[in-house]
Amino acid sequence: MCGIFAYTGINQEAPSLVLGGLKNLEYRGYDSWGIAAIGKNGKLQVYKKTGKIGNSLIDNLGKSTLAIGHTRWATHGGVTVRNAHPHLDCTGSLGLIHNGIIENYDVLKKSLLKFGHRFNSETDTEVAVHLIEEYQKKLSFKEAVIKAFTEFQGLNAIIVMDSKTRLIAAAKNGSPLIIGKGRQENYLASDAHALLPYTRNIYFMEDSEAVFINDKKITGYSLIDKREKELHYTVLNWKSLKVDKGFYPHFMLKEIHDQLKMLEYIVNNQDEGIKKFSKLIETSFGTYMVGCGTAAYASLAGTYIFSKIAKFHVNFSVASEFAYLVDFLTEKSLVIALSQSGETIDLIDAVRKARNNGARIAALVNNLGSSLYRLADDKLLLNAGVEKAVVSTKAFTAKLAHLILIAYNLAGKLEEGKLIIRKSITEVRRILKNEYQVKIKNLAKNLTAKNHIYIIGRGVSYPIALETALKIKEASYIHAEGFAGGELKHGVIALVDKGTPCLAFLPEDETYPDTTSGVMEMKARGGYMIGIGSKNQKVFDEFLEVHDCGIATMIPNILVGQLLGYYLAVNKGLDPDKPRNLAKSVTVK
Ligand code: BG6
Repeated sequence: MCGIFAYTGINQEAPSLVLGGLKNLEYRGYDSWGIAAIGKNGKLQVYKKTGKIGNSLIDNLGKSTLAIGHTRWATHGGVTVRNAHPHLDCTGSLGLIHNGIIENYDVLKKSLLKFGHRFNSETDTEVAVHLIEEYQKKLSFKEAVIKAFTEFQGLNAIIVMDSKTRLIAAAKNGSPLIIGKGRQENYLASDAHALLPYTRNIYFMEDSEAVFINDKKITGYSLIDKREKELHYTVLNWKSLKVDKGFYPHFMLKEIHDQLKMLEYIVNNQDEGIKKFSKLIETSFGTYMVGCGTAAYASLAGTYIFSKIAKFHVNFSVASEFAYLVDFLTEKSLVIALSQSGETIDLIDAVRKARNNGARIAALVNNLGSSLYRLADDKLLLNAGVEKAVVSTKAFTAKLAHLILIAYNLAGKLEEGKLIIRKSITEVRRILKNEYQVKIKNLAKNLTAKNHIYIIGRGVSYPIALETALKIKEASYIHAEGFAGGELKHGVIALVDKGTPCLAFLPEDETYPDTTSGVMEMKARGGYMIGIGSKNQKVFDEFLEVHDCGIATMIPNILVGQLLGYYLAVNKGLDPDKPRNLAKSVTVK
């Protein structure tokens, strides 16, 4: 997944404008970036660099009114300047950027090599620009783009600029692409939020569509009907999502602190959506919660919450696996898709397959206007606010709070649910205080040099153990593994040795005695035991007290896990906002 942005218009500073657009898309990939523009001499100029954009400027491309730009998350070919986008054809008159994977690139490349094309990179993407070049030998630029794009297999979005016609063409199938219409200037971007600083006149491209753009005109084209089509624009009244860190050193820490206000907002303002979703679950014949990464663990937590609070069975699946599990779905089934970005392709793909089997789709999502938001029959916005750090924090607790309130409403006890969320808010406020943070910082100091950390939890604490391990892995690159406390003695305990750090979540619920036994078994093998719970015990080498808030104790418990992950990253001098090899939303398979 990558971020792509393009501009054509009257602004002579198109390269800088595109650089600004890329900065708003860097959450989609940040291992390298590049921009191409048509210089005064009518020739394509390209500038590419590995690493994050940071405070880079782009004055070496000179003045231009057309430019395209890309920020990369490598899929094919290492992180090098050669593999960074844009890629040019042999003549140097076509420049192309891409988001997705051209699954049949190797077959296409073989035939292009036979036609004498010279390749400069190891990417699948470069095949696209050479194929268009090949077809342009007999066809117009438009026809060549259309013919080439329809030969790509997989989920893709491309933008290609032709220095001869000064046209920008784009085509989409699967990966998101949005058009921004201005006065005598037009834009393209991977997400609508990146266009808001420039225009609110937006068109969300559909799959199997192409567009041809210059500063005066945007022509839509259906790759299915094989003819031009009219595009219907929407004027977005969304709040600009420009956020800054304020006095926080990282977005991750700012977003951890945002949870206080966010939880207060959810408990006081989301009743309508909560009631709608509990009705949907009540009337469905089989409910499935699906998500990826952090959203998958929130979905797993949902199965425990609905069983415990509403005596309702809700199924869970990791979205990337759910695509292989949809055959039993019917039109009475309800699939609740959980996502921060609403753009995660594994989830979108699974949801599409579920819908094809007749299931109703409900989205618990944070991103207004995202592909999932537009795809779903029913939507409930998380209202967690913008989450910039790749390591997700507040979007997770927002999902937990909504699932808890929906379950309590299903049980006809919404006010009781609000009460325990308010109790968890008090506990969150206490943990965010300096004196408590010092304890977590000390724990992080003791664990920074460790290579392995194990985390156990039973019942509702099992998904919290998994999410804590994920935060530690994503932010600090330390190998951390969360597992169900009961599975300890069935294998994992073999990993525990003298001094091995083991965290255990021990809230005041039915899991307390059994988790304590697990702690004793790890201690007996030399484990360095860290307890997170309501009651300290002699067996613990370190203990962090979290007061009981009923099933909502999950929220302050994961707050401790988030802060531990954060301070481990800081101790190791890492950037938790943009960890290596990750991105905020994954739009490739
Ligand atoms: C990954 C992010 O790319 O996608 C994770 O790094 C996230 O933090 C996962 O949990 C799922 O993303 P989303 O946007 O669908 O919740």
